[in-house]
Amino acid sequence: MTEVAARHYASLAVPRYTSYPTAADFTAAVGREQYEAWLRRLRQGEAVSLYLHVPYCRDLCYYCGCHAKIARRDTVIEDYADTLIREIRQAGQYLTERPQAVHLHWGGGTPSILGGEGLARVTQVLREYFDFSDNMEHAIELDPRKVDKKLARDLARIGVNRASLGVQDFNPAVQAAIGRIQPVEQVEATVNALWQAGITSLNFDLIYGLPLQTAESLRETCERVGMFRPSRIACYGYAHLPARRANQKLIDPATLPDADARFEQAHSVGEAFLAMGYEPVGIDHYALPQDTLAVAARNGRLRRNFQGYTDDDCPTLLGFGASSISQFREGYTQNIADIRQYGAHVAEGHAPVMRGYAFNDSDRLRARIIEKLMCDFSVDLNEFAPAAQFSDELALLRPLTADGIVTVQDGVIAMVPQHKTLVRLVAAVFDEFRRETAHSFSMAI
Ligand SMILES: C[S@@+](CC[C@H](N)C(=O)[O-])C[C@H]1O[C@@H](n2cnc3c(N)ncnc32)[C@H](O)[C@@H]1O
Ligand code: SF4
Repeated sequence: MTEVAARHYASLAVPRYTSYPTAADFTAAVGREQYEAWLRRLRQGEAVSLYLHVPYCRDLCYYCGCHAKIARRDTVIEDYADTLIREIRQAGQYLTERPQAVHLHWGGGTPSILGGEGLARVTQVLREYFDFSDNMEHAIELDPRKVDKKLARDLARIGVNRASLGVQDFNPAVQAAIGRIQPVEQVEATVNALWQAGITSLNFDLIYGLPLQTAESLRETCERVGMFRPSRIACYGYAHLPARRANQKLIDPATLPDADARFEQAHSVGEAFLAMGYEPVGIDHYALPQDTLAVAARNGRLRRNFQGYTDDDCPTLLGFGASSISQFREGYTQNIADIRQYGAHVAEGHAPVMRGYAFNDSDRLRARIIEKLMCDFSVDLNEFAPAAQFSDELALLRPLTADGIVTVQDGVIAMVPQHKTLVRLVAAVFDEFRRETAHSFSMAI
């Protein structure tokens, strides 16, 4: 690939495809009515995943791009727990039968801000409407600076069996530059507290592309992470969008690594974890060989949903909380993102849905092709429809095949291994909402 082409491809804004169509393509044509009708269609014992979003933190990390806000007063948090409960009860009115929850995920923000008691209260209300499967995965995102032995025990008591810790980077200079001082000893104390409470399935989140990071400093962070032996690691590329995230203005852009340095960093993270016996999963995850995510990836059963890579194959995901997205067989719905407005809708007794999307057959087909590409780095179009049906898409791929990024043979599309990280470009070819992006590939040659 020429340097011009590499730079052009790197400059393109392509979605991360945690869904197709992406949340950016949802519209107000789908709202409360569809949400209620789709809930009514869920059947007795039908497997569902549940997601609860808690958009609060005690303070904001400079780099944070999540849907999170500072909560200074405890009453704000208590009110939010009450609103979540009310939202679940309102949705529950539309459930004619009891679905079975096979996954429950608390995301944020920092969901543990609800405290052991708040989390237990919300979980108890979920049990009024859903049967929890015996081996339900019950996961929570945790800030290691905010976990003590009591919280760990409370989490175990409500059935949490997987914790995802935001580690980001262990280097003290990087931690200072991102406004998140978190010594190794603090992470160690959190890990010990979780283990003692019986929560042994751990994910660590890392980020590359942060201020002052180098490939070498990241390698050291990875080695420290390896000593904890978490079963899964996610390493995301830092997304710097200060125009949209005011907190990111606290990061000096002069300290950010450039595109080449970011590439080198991502590569050094991959090498470090592979050397420690982890297997790569998708574009940004690593897992120990016995971890269910690694097993799913090896068996071609890896899936991708709003929380990223998963072995969860539920067709239905019900999201509660501000900005949460729900997925049904029929389409997607998304809750109002503004916390105040979200709360006001729930208080009025309305489902707080603001937009969504109803699938047609073409969307379903494209969603599966895009998910296959994102998970397996290859797809056999013949499994979906005669490859001739995709002649437009195959024509759009030509610049990428000419640049040696991807191969196409008899309808089988496969990423060239060293360019796997560019898989989103190939996915964009099948995205009817991103045709312009795909058309611009030819500008690179
Ligand atoms: C909700 S937070 C995790 C839980 C907890 N709030 C914490 O920070 O420890 C989700 C993860 O998103 C990642 N993240 C946040 N902002 C990001 C950004 N701007 N670019 C890339 N990844 C980001 C971080 O790795 C973070 O751990
Ligand atoms: S990274 Fe986590 S703790 Fe930091 S602001 Fe974002 S959600 Fe809150």
